[in-house]
Amino acid sequence: MSQRSAKDTVQSGGKHGNAPCRVALIGFGTVGRAVAKILCENGDRGLQLTHICNRNVEKKKQAWIPADVVWTDDVQSVLRSDAEIVIELIGGLTPAEQIVRGALESGKSVVTANKQLIARCGPDLLQVAANHGCQLEFGASVAGGVPVLPALRTGLCGDRLHGIAGILNGTCNYILSRIESARIPFSEALEEAQARGYAEADASEDLDGGDARAKLTILALAGLHSRVAAETVRARTIRSIDAVDFDYAAQLGCTIRQISRADLKGDTLFAEVGPCLVPQDSPFGRVQRNLNLVLTSGQYGGDMAFLGAGAGGDPTAVAVVSDVMFVAEGLSGGKRKATSSVATPHISSDFETPWYLRFFVRDQPGIVARLAEILAAHRLNIDSLLQKPGFEKASLPFVITLEPCRDSQLHPALEEMSGLEFALRPCLCLPILR
Ligand SMILES: NC(=O)c1ccc[n+]([C@@H]2O[C@H](COP(=O)([O-])OP(=O)(O)OC[C@H]3O[C@@H](n4cnc5c(N)ncnc54)[C@H](OP(=O)(O)O)[C@@H]3O)[C@@H](O)[C@H]2O)c1
Repeated sequence: MSQRSAKDTVQSGGKHGNAPCRVALIGFGTVGRAVAKILCENGDRGLQLTHICNRNVEKKKQAWIPADVVWTDDVQSVLRSDAEIVIELIGGLTPAEQIVRGALESGKSVVTANKQLIARCGPDLLQVAANHGCQLEFGASVAGGVPVLPALRTGLCGDRLHGIAGILNGTCNYILSRIESARIPFSEALEEAQARGYAEADASEDLDGGDARAKLTILALAGLHSRVAAETVRARTIRSIDAVDFDYAAQLGCTIRQISRADLKGDTLFAEVGPCLVPQDSPFGRVQRNLNLVLTSGQYGGDMAFLGAGAGGDPTAVAVVSDVMFVAEGLSGGKRKATSSVATPHISSDFETPWYLRFFVRDQPGIVARLAEILAAHRLNIDSLLQKPGFEKASLPFVITLEPCRDSQLHPALEEMSGLEFALRPCLCLPILR
């Protein structure tokens, strides 16, 4: 990259005639660095990078950054500066929340990729932005480089969306698609993901659904205009998925993916995150490795799909810079905004679906009869019974699929089954999405 002055990056647009829009970057890590690279390599975007702020900033300095960009570790000096847009890329809740709030309160628009912050404080911070006549954009906070949030904001805002479903966690998708393709145990797939940098040493947030749940919360806010506290959305772990589940799923024409879904019906938002059976030939079934996919369902426009890289410095930086350009355009053209009101629906995970129940049992006569008796007592209809040959009788996996019923109807039957003397593990219960 050639060394040049930020003032040379003079462009068209901006608030004041042809002057560029001044942009400050807080957080010079993986994404921040990639954002700076795009801003400095492409001088025709109407944007001028004025500050780079990071703790221990001396260690961060790069020769390719134009000489007149101010390097600082003092966030307050950035908030007092004449920057019109602040990009927050430090992540986490503290001090990111204080920084974003402070920037908005001082009349600066903010672009962030911080899913934790938006999932927790999004509606509140959007209100602060509106009160101060500025904008808050967070297009990179869900699905990284996949422009699903901008699509919800612009291309789909004319529709009335009632459903959003997605593969939102690349780590889970990598692990599940590796178990699928290599029929390796979950623990081996996790170790491989960690060795390749697709999973953190402590991957609990990913595996147990916390990460995807935060993203679903943001999608529900942006697309379904629903305020949801992330912790009220049920999240099921993928840790209990076994290689044999892919064999049984394949017999049903399905595979297994971690799906995040939200359906708005009247005043209730049905929402949950967890592993589900999906048809092998469906859009979800075809998503491999660490890609993300989001499907939206609208009253007028029907179904739409968005697929791509859900993480990575460069794809995420594209989403951040696109948001910055969008905000800068608004600053140059005056305030645009038709805002939608946000409702606070009742949250439920009581979806009605067919179900996949997998048992690991110590084989003995009467097992199927006993399970069928419990299911019948709870008015649950068996759709099929699957048992692959070749397993040891001491630890035999087999599957019962059920016709559609509500989660709340199934739950008491599962409780009753959990005490059966022949069960070696808790029954794995997965929704089947057709
Ligand atoms: N990476 C991705 O693929 C991706 C995808 C989508 C969204 N995001 C989101 O983008 C944001 C940035 O992610 P990242 O991957 O770029 O993180 P990162 O590599 O850890 O970078 C964060 C940067 O912020 C600095 N920082 C942290 N706390 C600070 C503080 N209190 N004051 C000043 N500087 C501070 C860090 O400095 P040190 O180097 O000293 O720690 C580091 O340079 C996060 O919200 C993340 O969730 C990332």
